[in-house]
Amino acid sequence: MATVHKLIIGNAIDMREIPDESIQLMVTSPPYFNAPFDYKQLYQSYDQYLQILGEVAKEAYRVLQNGRIAVLNIDDMLVDGEKFPIVADATHLFLQAGFRYRDRIIWKKPDGYLRISRRSGVMLQNPYPMYYYPDNTLESILIFQKGKFNYRSIPDAVRLASKIDLERFQKEKWYMTLWEMVNVLPNSELEKDIAAFPEELPYRIISLFSYVGETVLDPFVGSGTTMKVARLLGRNSIGIEIKESLIPIIRKKIGFEGQLTLEQQEDTFEIILREKVSQSEEIR
Ligand SMILES: C[S@@+](CC[C@H](N)C(=O)[O-])C[C@H]1O[C@@H](n2cnc3c(N)ncnc32)[C@H](O)[C@@H]1O
Repeated sequence: MATVHKLIIGNAIDMREIPDESIQLMVTSPPYFNAPFDYKQLYQSYDQYLQILGEVAKEAYRVLQNGRIAVLNIDDMLVDGEKFPIVADATHLFLQAGFRYRDRIIWKKPDGYLRISRRSGVMLQNPYPMYYYPDNTLESILIFQKGKFNYRSIPDAVRLASKIDLERFQKEKWYMTLWEMVNVLPNSELEKDIAAFPEELPYRIISLFSYVGETVLDPFVGSGTTMKVARLLGRNSIGIEIKESLIPIIRKKIGFEGQLTLEQQEDTFEIILREKVSQSEEIR
């Protein structure tokens, strides 16, 4: 079955193009407040940041079908020496929007892949009590659910076509709340300055929480990783991104190189520029 991919250029606090209950899974990584390097001074205050996240949570609740899952990859952030409890606050905002809190997965990056400065160096300079500042190699993957899923609503053929690869599930330990995945290197070509997540993250989430032919939403789509993986896995996708300048990157990423099946060649890609004339085109 050919898949359909839509990119909306606009602000995700309003998902006006997306009808109620039309999405089967949301997976996204919002900006990490005013993270050093990536989002320096993007928001005027932490309250303003939380307000935006709260609006997105409400819209996500509206567009998701009953029983379905919303996944947030996020982490607490150290800004100018102050630690902001984004994981706790985001969890609260999603609960307030109506979601149930289902799980928290910890994503562990390899030890040597630190992107931020090594805070732990302070201890080497001053090997005394009170100088302890650990290096962070973790992020959270928060899993929320809207109501309860009706397992009988999925036809047998769709269930079969969406079967999880149990060998991979066992070998890569998907069954634990600790996921060890290699992060995208900051200097990688397509994701430069975007703070992209590795394909492995949406790959696991989309495989575990959606069926073939369903629609996956990423309201902070960045370089388009979620859309690319959705396409690979035979799901439709909708991405929202505020930065129009990312269109060429997203286009390149989701029109992946390599062998396409005949069905994938029929896939379509549409760009909706808010307040501007929309344009439709084929992916290839
Ligand atoms: C952490 S990045 C997402 C990276 C993405 N997961 C990937 O793999 O490339 C967050 C993205 O959200 C975008 N963004 C920030 N605020 C937004 C908003 N209010 N609405 C839509 N997109 C927004 C940023 O421009 C950035 O590209």
